[in-house]
Amino acid sequence: MIRSGIILFSLFVSATQAEAPINMTRPKVLISNPSVPAAALELLKEKCDLIVSPSDEKNSILNLVEGVEAIFWATHVKLDNEIIEKAGAQLKLIASMSAGYNHVDLKELKKRGIKLSNTPGVLSNAVADIAMLLALGTSRRLTEGRFHIERGTWGADTNNTQWMLGTDLEGSTVGIVGLGGIGQAIAKRLKGFDVARILYTGHREKSEGASLGAQFVDLDVLTKESDFIFLSAPLTNETMNMCNGTFFSKMRRTAILINVSRGQLVDQAALIGALKEGQIFAVGLDVMVPEPLPIDSELLKLPNVVLTPHLGSATVNTRNAMAQLTAKNILLALEGEELLTPVKF
Ligand code: DGY
Repeated sequence: MIRSGIILFSLFVSATQAEAPINMTRPKVLISNPSVPAAALELLKEKCDLIVSPSDEKNSILNLVEGVEAIFWATHVKLDNEIIEKAGAQLKLIASMSAGYNHVDLKELKKRGIKLSNTPGVLSNAVADIAMLLALGTSRRLTEGRFHIERGTWGADTNNTQWMLGTDLEGSTVGIVGLGGIGQAIAKRLKGFDVARILYTGHREKSEGASLGAQFVDLDVLTKESDFIFLSAPLTNETMNMCNGTFFSKMRRTAILINVSRGQLVDQAALIGALKEGQIFAVGLDVMVPEPLPIDSELLKLPNVVLTPHLGSATVNTRNAMAQLTAKNILLALEGEELLTPVKF
């Protein structure tokens, strides 16, 4: 499509003898964040004119978006009607450099026939690594241990053989909510820790579940029987606040919750209550509400909470792979070809 556009444009130029810059036919692409890895920009530069927003703030994006054919979306800012409207009718694709796409107004895209791509798969291992970090950190009381060192309370009790005992992954029952790419990568890692059972829940039983030796159960069974619960399902109307007071009351008092999905899956006030009352043993969160978490949040004060600041996909290789996949989707959309990782909605 782009190539034929260039040919048509060349014919037009020779027919009219007009002097026009050759790059007038190059599609414009907005890069919503100046920190997008260079490898992706290199891919795009060959065929597109890039407009790089100096910041990922909405206003900066709004100022530059008019007339672009694709937007490389690398920010958690909401992609709403205002931005889509300002871009104009030529907008073909939103390419989000993320697996999750809850920040995108899908209804608006559908109405206007604009495509959406995301970057599943390439980040599964990195996110699963963070999930394991949180599982180990919570089960071995990482924050509490750190508090003891910082507060000078690491002392006499060390001789008590019962001091700071954690729980084991070995022999445990683990529940995974959402056995997609990330959930499967978590299950693979768990097998190396000799867990006794892997349960999972979701919309349907999956063939990958059987190959991982994981058992499909309903949410209720998973909640009641798991020693560790991993949340790796996308944020939807169905999963929003799924971990609420009722959910925590069903969990074992010795159980641990890990969330690497989106903070909104958890009713945070109910979670803080459950942690304080000892209704559950601990929580490990890579995602929370809001992000960034205010520094006076109660979550930072509790000893049975391990937090990371939404670092799931934050490794050099993973971010490069995500950026390159995003760029490839843009090039394909501009050529009128099938996307590598389209979001179906
Ligand atoms: C994603 O891509 O959706 C992840 O949350 C990034 O860490």
